[in-house]
Amino acid sequence: MKTYLVTGGAGFIGSNFIHYMFRKYNDTIRIINVDALTYAGNLENLKSVEDRENYTFIKADITDSAAIAEIFDQNDVDYVVHFAAESHVDRSIKSPEVFIKTNVLGTAVMLNCARAAWENADGSYQEGKKFLHVSTDEVYGSLDEDGGYFYETTPYAPHSPYSASKASSDMLVKAYVDTYRFPANITNCSNNYGPYQFPEKLIPLIINNALHGRKLPVYGDGKNVRDWLYVDDHAKGIDMVIEKGRLGETYNIGGHNEKQNIEIIHIILDTLLEMLPEGDERRKLISRDLITYVEDRKGHDRRYAIAPDKIKSEIGWEPETMFKDGIKKTIAWFFEHEDWMANVTSGDYQKYYDDMYQNK
Ligand code: NAD
Ligand code: TYD
Repeated sequence: MKTYLVTGGAGFIGSNFIHYMFRKYNDTIRIINVDALTYAGNLENLKSVEDRENYTFIKADITDSAAIAEIFDQNDVDYVVHFAAESHVDRSIKSPEVFIKTNVLGTAVMLNCARAAWENADGSYQEGKKFLHVSTDEVYGSLDEDGGYFYETTPYAPHSPYSASKASSDMLVKAYVDTYRFPANITNCSNNYGPYQFPEKLIPLIINNALHGRKLPVYGDGKNVRDWLYVDDHAKGIDMVIEKGRLGETYNIGGHNEKQNIEIIHIILDTLLEMLPEGDERRKLISRDLITYVEDRKGHDRRYAIAPDKIKSEIGWEPETMFKDGIKKTIAWFFEHEDWMANVTSGDYQKYYDDMYQNK
């Protein structure tokens, strides 16, 4: 039975990955979820798995090397799946330091502890061990509107403190591969959407605001392009890279689904109106007049677009969910989990929202 040590499993993609893995492998794997439970980590995301005998949650900070070393001491970990990070660009522009601490130092701690646990006396590694570092396409910088894609060979050119910290963490993983022959893969994925996404990110923020008749903030001219991937397709890609990825390699993950932000907002409004039953009070709140152009994000990358050729040809990964279906599934999930949204937007969220949007 393989043991997966998942970091950041209480966040958006990590919790979806854990659900995906238990759906696929059921009782034949073991998952240890290590998460510090920052504002973005939520154990409610994992309610349906918490009683499983093959699931363990450990509250720990990845920058705490003693705590992480102890987890490796007490468990025979086969795979590390490293999601834990500070992940929101706007927060990184306001407060960069925590991004450097968690994303760079935290990754160094994870690499050191995995290496100490897995390396043999002769510098080789125990059979079958792997460190999967989950990263983003934002490390490649920004593309022109009229062409080009991010390949694994595209030079790194991050612009935000978030993407710079993720680029640094990727470089550390590459350095461990080159220096210590450390068994790792890196995946660089495009923007994800789906259940459990925290409503600081574009799609859940627009769904939540529209349902409450609140302004829909569009940064700049609304024509920045992101390449959207349903989160289960990302989980599938990570699982396949763990199984089939060549050690030391990087794989880009994305589904050729580019959309301007303003298009996303119109699709969400159309889909909400299509899905809400006649007579539902919320229909009256939803209006195009809520769309509000606000000051642009500083250093706002214009376009991201992944070329997934390598993961398709080498590993056989392909996305399964078209955007029109994924957005319906996502909205349906938010309809069924109103309590989840109410819980995560109580407490500190309102303060965050006011601070972030008051001058926009
Ligand atoms: P998220 O912000 O929803 O979740 C991050 C999780 O990490 C939370 O559970 C949080 O509690 C935990 N965490 C934060 N700091 C920690 C620390 N010091 N120690 C332990 N746990 C800590 O993020 P997400 O959107 O799920 O992203 C997960 C990973 O995927 C990140 O590495 C991110 O860079 C990458 N990624 C995200 C996207 C996207 O569209 N969201 C796309 C590509 C790659
Ligand atoms: P986001 O979801 O923060 O992801 P990322 O910055 O990592 O791509 O933002 C997606 C796009 O939406 C990005 O171009 C910024 C834009 N955006 C808005 O226009 N308004 C908003 O309120 C937010 C949160 C994002």
